[in-house]
Amino acid sequence: MTSQLTEIDHVAIAVNDLDAAIAWYEAVFGAEVVHREIVESDGVDEALVKVAESYIQLLTPTRDDSPVAKYLAKNGEGLHHIAYRVDDCAKALEAVKASGARVIDEAPRPGSRGTTVAFVHPKSSFGTLIELVEESR
Ligand code: CO
Repeated sequence: MTSQLTEIDHVAIAVNDLDAAIAWYEAVFGAEVVHREIVESDGVDEALVKVAESYIQLLTPTRDDSPVAKYLAKNGEGLHHIAYRVDDCAKALEAVKASGARVIDEAPRPGSRGTTVAFVHPKSSFGTLIELVEESR
């Protein structure tokens, strides 16, 4: 059986000050932000820092009721989720559901930069919020 997980798409880090986090990655590592986007539906402002074929996704909330705002209030800054790249988000999500795991998204939905995504509940995935990311083609 071939793995459905083809790459680490991104590792997401929740931060209080997005500009400060970007400036730190640029100054310390010479890292490059290749994408900025406000995703209104998720209530987040994000920056993607390129690392080889993957990204570090720096995330900050755009409103108090966003899940990331709640996360920051509860946990402070830090690792928020890990995103695995898959060829077929719907297929991967079905496999998750077939395993009996809890999902946050019952069906794939639009993510940032034109991707299709779905989240798996961390209670079912060993304490890690997982995002499945299918690149647009
Ligand atoms: Co993500």
